[in-house]
Amino acid sequence: MDVKIFDNDVEAGKAAFDIIKTGMDNGAKTLGLATGSTPVEMYKAMVASDVDFSNMTSVNLDEYVGMAPDNDQSYRYFMQSHLFDAKPFKETFVPNGLAADPDAETKRYNKVIADHPIDIQVLGIGRNGHIGFNEPGSPFDAETRKVPLTQSTIDANARFFDKEEDVPRFAYSMGIGSIMKSKKILLLAFGEDKADAIQKMIEGPVTTDVPASVLQNHKDVVVIIDKAAASKL
Ligand code: GLP
Repeated sequence: MDVKIFDNDVEAGKAAFDIIKTGMDNGAKTLGLATGSTPVEMYKAMVASDVDFSNMTSVNLDEYVGMAPDNDQSYRYFMQSHLFDAKPFKETFVPNGLAADPDAETKRYNKVIADHPIDIQVLGIGRNGHIGFNEPGSPFDAETRKVPLTQSTIDANARFFDKEEDVPRFAYSMGIGSIMKSKKILLLAFGEDKADAIQKMIEGPVTTDVPASVLQNHKDVVVIIDKAAASKL
C-alpha cells in the first residue's frame, strides 16, 4: 500500500482528486464513489475544478435499505448534493433503497458493476474497519448484498439522524469481492477515531475481522490520511 500523510483533509482531498484526474487523463471511465464525511473535501475539490465529468460513469458503494432517494439522509441525496448536481456525469448508479425485491436489486446492481468495471474506487473506512457497509465477518468474495449494520456503525451514523431509532438497520452494499476487482483503490481516513482501524488495516493480519485489511492483497491501493489517522502506525 502506498500511504500518503497530509496535514488536513482539505490537502488530502485535493491530493485524492489529483489522482483521479491523472486516472481520467489515462483513460479511466468509471469511478466507484463513497459517501460519509470523509470524501467531502475531495468532492469540493472536484466541484471547484474545471474538469468535465460528462463522459464519466459512477457506481456508488452502498445505500440504506428503505431510504427514498429524496430523503436527505439517503446516499443518493448525498451524491446529488455534494457532486452530481454541480458536476453532471454521463450515468450515475446508487443502489435503490426502495427496491421492492432485495434479491432482484442486488442482482441488478451486480450487473451494473459487471457492465461498468471500476477504474478507481474511492473508499472511507468505518471505526471497526468496515468498507462500504461490509462489516466485520463479511466474506472477502462477496458481491452486492443486503446486510445488517452493526451496533457500532448504527451508533457512529446516529449523528446524522434526529434519534438513534431512525438510523436504518440494513443497507445494500457492494461486496468486498467487487471492491477488490477495481483497478485502483483510494482509501481516505481522517481523525484520531480512525487511527486504530488504519493501523489494523495496514499493519495487522489480513482477516475478515477487519474488512479493510483485505486491501493488503490488492496491488494498487493509495491510502490518503491525516496525521491523526496515522498516529498509531
Ligand atoms: C459509513 C459508510 C462508509 C463510510 C464509513 C465512514 O457507514 N457506509 O462507506 O466509509 O461509514 O464514514 P465517515 O466518512 O462519515 O466517517
